[in-house]
Amino acid sequence: MYTLPHQLEFLSDPWLDEARSFLTREVAARRDELAGPFSLSERFTDAPPHLGLPDDVAAWSLAYDGASVTAKRGFDAAADVVVEGDYQAALTSAQRVGITVAGAAEAMWREVVQQFGKDALRIRGQLDDRHANTVLALLHNHMGRRTVENPDLLHRATRQGLLGNIVEMEEQGYTVLERAISPEFADELRDATLRALSEQGVTSLRWMLYQGRPFELLAQHPQLMTLIDASLGRGAVIASLSAIRKGPGPGTIPLHTDYAHVPPPYPEWAMTGVGVWALEDWTVASGPTWMVPGSHRRRRPPRPAEDVDDGVPIEMPKGSVVFFTEALWHWQGDRTEPGERVTLHWHFNRGILRSLEPKKVDGQLLHRNSPRLGEMLGEDDWFDKMAGIGRDHVRFAHMQQLHAFTAKQKARILGATET
Ligand SMILES: [Fe+2]
Repeated sequence: MYTLPHQLEFLSDPWLDEARSFLTREVAARRDELAGPFSLSERFTDAPPHLGLPDDVAAWSLAYDGASVTAKRGFDAAADVVVEGDYQAALTSAQRVGITVAGAAEAMWREVVQQFGKDALRIRGQLDDRHANTVLALLHNHMGRRTVENPDLLHRATRQGLLGNIVEMEEQGYTVLERAISPEFADELRDATLRALSEQGVTSLRWMLYQGRPFELLAQHPQLMTLIDASLGRGAVIASLSAIRKGPGPGTIPLHTDYAHVPPPYPEWAMTGVGVWALEDWTVASGPTWMVPGSHRRRRPPRPAEDVDDGVPIEMPKGSVVFFTEALWHWQGDRTEPGERVTLHWHFNRGILRSLEPKKVDGQLLHRNSPRLGEMLGEDDWFDKMAGIGRDHVRFAHMQQLHAFTAKQKARILGATET
């Protein structure tokens, strides 16, 4: 297992044990409310090989007989509710905490469909007893805040359809995930961003993680996280999550790299990566970011007044994200059309580096999110911590193991596609 002691891998034996113990407790407390027996069974294909499941199929069933509850391995096609589909799609849904909020389950479903397609997960049946539905929703939240991302980068990227993006990122220094979020979520984020900027009376703002739930969810976007893992290794931390609104006129950020204070030659591995979210369609006229493909291989910043003629505008539809890394040369384009460009800049650093924003970690923030949010706030590594015996050896060993597995699988991704 690739987890800290308080975390779980989706549908591993410890995950099942925790689900059983939660259900036993909740059902006992609600026995008088529950209308009667209910059951649920799930079966997901293409589980990561390191879990060692037969045929890489992860299946489990829970049943309440009116007195006690069982939760065990195995599929029951006759259960009241049956969920089937792809393991990685199910894991993405399983990491979403907070589905007891009105509309949250539907929003979760919408984003999973956006990333994996409408057939990736299929549900049959339903429970009419609202108390039984409450138990299942609470189970989802309880497990979601403990369930880690699939640690197998090769397997995860394959199931997310990102192998080509990782290769492109290595070669060009950037890659685009088109329509990585739904148009509805993009609109919600745009409205919330403009509100935050207006409330503050500014045109750019950091600490967007602390501006509301939509930003917490976007911070953990699973496909962007896979590019970050492939570029910066596991344990990458938030450097800054910022927002910018930009009206018509010339770009105000000239050609530069994001390696402030780093002396050249730059290392041959990435220290920083930035995902820029387009909350409207990006065209040349809207003043997109321009990038110089392959400029990360120059291993230096542009010289004063140095001109480039090989920059390209990043054109992409609303809800897309461009991720660029390894000190790629880039600048903000001129906006020649009316209206505003509203962007979110998701800047991450390799875990060994300091951040631009001070981190604010509170227990409630961690409680309403998956472990991924804690990882990017430095909760899972050994930096800035002191255990009674000195170093936090548990976190050191955990991150070392994740780094090794990630590096091995990234080499396989690049090796397999070079042939
Ligand atoms: Fe930049």
